[in-house]
Amino acid sequence: MNIRPRRNRKSIAIRAMVEETKIGTEHLIYPLFLKDGTNVKEKIASLPNNYRWSLDLLLNELEECLSYGIMTYDLFPAVEDSLKDKTGSYSWNEDNFYLKAIRKIKETFPEIVLMSDVALDPYSSDGHDGLVENGKILNDETLLLLNKMAVAQAQAGIDIVGPSDMMDGRVGSIREALDVNGFTDVSIMSYTAKYASAFYGPFRDALNSAPKSGDKKTYQMNPANKREALLEAELDVSEGADMIMVKPALCYLDIVHMLKENFTVPVTAYNVSGECAMIYAAAEKGWINYELAVSELLLSIRRAGADGILTYFAKDFAKYLKK
Ligand code: PBG
Repeated sequence: MNIRPRRNRKSIAIRAMVEETKIGTEHLIYPLFLKDGTNVKEKIASLPNNYRWSLDLLLNELEECLSYGIMTYDLFPAVEDSLKDKTGSYSWNEDNFYLKAIRKIKETFPEIVLMSDVALDPYSSDGHDGLVENGKILNDETLLLLNKMAVAQAQAGIDIVGPSDMMDGRVGSIREALDVNGFTDVSIMSYTAKYASAFYGPFRDALNSAPKSGDKKTYQMNPANKREALLEAELDVSEGADMIMVKPALCYLDIVHMLKENFTVPVTAYNVSGECAMIYAAAEKGWINYELAVSELLLSIRRAGADGILTYFAKDFAKYLKK
């Protein structure tokens, strides 16, 4: 044998020298759930280690996470049912606790990168990402509502908006609304290939945002489709998306890889709530090693081609990297 691949694995130093994929806190985006009120840190049964925070306690949490090197956060609002309606009008209401929180967080930590979610579901009495009429999710009517939501978030100081609704034409529509209102510097990270997945359950528990009727299959993508992700990406990029996302991550690493090979904008992947729940559950039973499993899983998302990773493991992983 004159070729023995094991020679390049024989010591820690050699393994480190030839390591192909790197992962650090700069690649992490930490999703956090926000609730109105004070002194709230509510457990989410299906998503251990994650909480619904009130702003006061969230500020402390952010300070701690920043000290571990996590710079980018994606905020989601848990809205009371009494504030929900068909158009999600609370999303652009000036009294909205979520908008106030964006302002306060950016004031307190100017160096932070803050991302929002742009979709109707946390605010919708129908629990859908778009406007519902006679059981149908209307596309173009929804765009006008998304524009309002995005502009309100930009006014509050958001750095990146994340349209997660999968309506056609939303990126172009939001880009124009932002620009017309003077927010040419606000970025769009589009949920480009977002699949109708079984792995969103814990997230919908966290926000109490499950659809009241039907499912999301007329707007989210069919898990069987791959080429369609190229079409979605072409559209988003041509409409002005700064970054494109694949969601979920683990069952869709082929899509992450394909978009990375075919597009020049950065690609991100959303390691969603159900994917995390599986790891937590197995670790709790002692069936896998939590830290090693999380490290391998996040590394594999990077190896597939993701620049950034949205993950509920961000804090635990950043702590682990510090050790
Ligand atoms: C809503 C939205 C969802 C997630 C992010 N934004 C849920 C859905 O589409 O039903 C899921 C995130 C997760 O499961 O971690 N537009």
